[in-house]
This record gives sequence, C-alpha cells and structure tokens, in this order.
Amino acid sequence: MADQPDQSRRNFLYVASAGLGGIAAGAVAVPFIGSMLPAADTLAASKTEFDISTVAEGQLVVIQWQGKPVFVVNRTADMLERTKGHEDNLKDPNSEAIDAVQAGWMDTPEKRTLRAIKPEYLIVVASCTHLGCIPLFKPTAGQKDWGESVPSDWPGGWHCPCHGSFYDLSARVMNGSPAPFNLYVMPYKYTSDSTVLIG
Ligand code: FES
Repeated sequence: MADQPDQSRRNFLYVASAGLGGIAAGAVAVPFIGSMLPAADTLAASKTEFDISTVAEGQLVVIQWQGKPVFVVNRTADMLERTKGHEDNLKDPNSEAIDAVQAGWMDTPEKRTLRAIKPEYLIVVASCTHLGCIPLFKPTAGQKDWGESVPSDWPGGWHCPCHGSFYDLSARVMNGSPAPFNLYVMPYKYTSDSTVLIG
C-alpha cells in the first residue's frame, strides 16, 4: 500500500506535463486566429476534443478546457463499485447542487451516482470547490499519507491538500469537508464511440 500514492502522483505529474504543452501551443495560436475571426476564436476556445481510449483502465489524465485542468478517469469495475454505500456521508449524493445543466443526461439514479455518460469515464473540472486547489487522486481506500482526519467510510477518490476536503470516486464531496460542492461536471458529449467534445 505504501507505494500506491507515489504511483498516482507519477500518473498525475505525467499528464500534467502534457497539459502544459497544450497551453504553450494555445498561446501562439490565439492572437492570429483572434485577429481574423474573434467569434470563431471564442467558440473554439470553449471546446476541447479528447480521445478517451488513450486513458488506461484505472488511470487519471489531466487535459485542458478553457484554460482549466480537467480530470479524465477510466474507472475500473472495483472503483465503480466503491461509488456506492456511503451516500449518508456525502453533501450532495444525487448531484443536484451544481449539475443541473447536465439534467438532460443525468436522468437516472445511476447516472447521478456515477456522474458520467459512460459509467467508467468520469470527466470533471480539476478544481476544488472550496478555494480552487487541485485535488490529489487517491483511488485506493485505506491510504494513510494524508493524516488522521480521513472520513471513516471514505472509499478513496480525491483529497485536496490545501484544507483537507475529501471527494469520492464520483468526485462527490464528503461531509465534514470545507468544500461546499462536488467537483464540477462540465457540459460534454460523445461525438464517436471514443471521442468526447467538452464544452
Ligand atoms: S481549496 Fe480544497 S479544501 Fe480548500
């Protein structure tokens, strides 16, 4: 168990590096496009296309959307199973507070629990809803590297290092956390079996 957090951190740092490359490319492209087609520039900047088949089972990657980091997780069957059974210790178990915009597809209890169009692929903004820090991916329950204040029935998910908020494997915030809301599920849709258009 002791080396599991290090593995998660390696994954996180690897994909974060890829995301920084995206920022650099965008910084070059925007002035040229913006001078010719401001409306198109605004539209293009609001959307990100991503091939989810590149995310290995159990892995988290970080991509960029509107200049913000976004988590994409390919959840294993075990991780999906661990999204259940702790509803009483969640602030918003049915994703009602900030996901109203998603009501078109969050139309069943299962989708409100899993917070995803395809159950295995969770896509959320990587910003803690307390003060905006990036939570750390801690997918294995029972890890001990974050101190003694772990909620007793926390099944693993994310831990925010700034003020100690905990999120489950559907990025729903646990009771007792300073964060008021679940991590945000932004608008997205599938344009093919493996292509997601975010925004
Ligand atoms: S910013 Fe995450 S707990 Fe404060």
